[in-house]
Amino acid sequence: MTIECKNISSCQKSALGSPILNNISCQIKKGEFVALLGVNGAGKSSLLKSLMGLIFLEKGEVRINDFLLTPNNIKKIRRQMAMIFQGGGLIRQLSALDNVLCGTLGFRSSWQTLWGFNQSDRLLALELLTELGLKEHAQQKVSKLSGGQRQRVAIARALIQSPQILLADEPTSGLDVIASHHVMESLARLNREKQITVIVVLHDLEMAATYAKRAIILEKGQVIYDGSSQNLSAQFNQSVPIILPSLNGIKPIIQQAA
Ligand SMILES: Nc1ncnc2c1ncn2[C@@H]1O[C@H](COP(=O)(O)OP(=O)(O)OP(=O)(O)O)[C@@H](O)[C@H]1O
Ligand SMILES: [Mg+2]
Repeated sequence: MTIECKNISSCQKSALGSPILNNISCQIKKGEFVALLGVNGAGKSSLLKSLMGLIFLEKGEVRINDFLLTPNNIKKIRRQMAMIFQGGGLIRQLSALDNVLCGTLGFRSSWQTLWGFNQSDRLLALELLTELGLKEHAQQKVSKLSGGQRQRVAIARALIQSPQILLADEPTSGLDVIASHHVMESLARLNREKQITVIVVLHDLEMAATYAKRAIILEKGQVIYDGSSQNLSAQFNQSVPIILPSLNGIKPIIQQAA
């Protein structure tokens, strides 16, 4: 099993006093592409962070590639994973290329980067940006890129770490439909061609059905669904507006306009 969570509960509590992650168990195999869904505050980002050891757990255990995540081996385990944080987490003042190179800082020693990034890393970063259709933008400051281009820089920064597992937290948020599909297609290609295990947080059921075979839905820190990503709207007939809260406000306006 590539990822295994057994009864994990976070130390942090919600306003109602229950743990933000409340007794979650799930197993994800190598090469799976999983969509993680749920309303705002359901615990999606917290679950991804817990897989990287970025939040404290009160109970339960996380295993990555059969190794128990502990403070002693966290550094070694993190080398097998990369995370695209919600919002991208890029440095706006740096070029796309330098942002990608920042992804190497976790596995290069300080003296190796004291005089700047080495040539082979620079070439690899450029290759990744090229693969993601951003060759012409490599030297451009991230602040001057569009949202979709930024997300692809964030993907390249994750990929330079050669992860076996890629955790992407809302990589399509704020993007138009075409840019969202570009980003999702980039993730799907990595999954297909390099067998990278991908967990991607989404708010869109159709997008989940298109790219992921499996969906996990969280509610109040608990898994309420774990299964096929197909026909979720039918299965969650009543809950769809809960899964997609943003539609609540938009629908009536569209209906009025029509
Ligand atoms: N560091 C923290 N300390 C205390 N509570 C937190 C912390 N981080 C998140 N929370 C709370 O935990 C709950 C889950 O947050 P999380 O960010 O995991 O939700 P999410 O499902 O990713 O939501 P969104 O769709 O808005 O990104 C929320 O109620 C949030 O307020
Ligand atoms: Mg989140």
